[in-house]
Amino acid sequence: MQLFLDTADIKQIREAVKLGVISGVTTNPSLVSKAGWAGDYKSAVQEICSLVKGPVSVEVLSQDAESMIDEARAIATWSPYVNIKIPVCAAGLEAISVLSTEKIKVNMTLCFSLNQALLGALAGATYVSSFVGRLDDVGQDGMELVAQIVQCLDHYKLPAQVIAASIRHPMHCVTAAKAGAHIATIPYSVLTQMINHPLTTAGIARFLEDSKQATGKG
Ligand code: G3P
Repeated sequence: MQLFLDTADIKQIREAVKLGVISGVTTNPSLVSKAGWAGDYKSAVQEICSLVKGPVSVEVLSQDAESMIDEARAIATWSPYVNIKIPVCAAGLEAISVLSTEKIKVNMTLCFSLNQALLGALAGATYVSSFVGRLDDVGQDGMELVAQIVQCLDHYKLPAQVIAASIRHPMHCVTAAKAGAHIATIPYSVLTQMINHPLTTAGIARFLEDSKQATGKG
């Protein structure tokens, strides 16, 4: 399973990329607003692309298919790493089907059902993003849906990759990997939680202490 970073915060992206475990970045309008990007949206996206050198999802804001397509075509020129995030809806599917014929990669977002994922994959989306945490929030098993989508796309040999999105904690990453998600897109806080384990911290401290004894520096 690959890991993408789910943020528009350039400082966090810079830190995470240093670890060598992040293959891409996903942004959305909420994350862009949280990151407080003032001014040049295009330059910020290009900076992220130059840091990550992997897929970077940028969401369209248009509502109708024609405008989505125009917006996507324009964003796609910003960097070869950019892919276009389009929400599941009739206009979105129409846009995805056109963009896929132009080799513009789409990450179909806000997916909450197997049917939606299937439609996105059939329309030609490169990625389908299934929002795990938000389904959990309303009492449905978000990761069970990820597992069903993975199985369905695999069964019908549809090439779309499944992104487990709306990841809220490290156990979501564990279950996403077990469900066979191709990618989990995670907040920076979850990445740092994944690294740490109290026994590792205690083990490092003990090795340090023992090495002081062994070298007589204790
Ligand atoms: O990847 C989608 C993500 O940004 C949404 O997360 O926590 O707002 O459901 P959340």
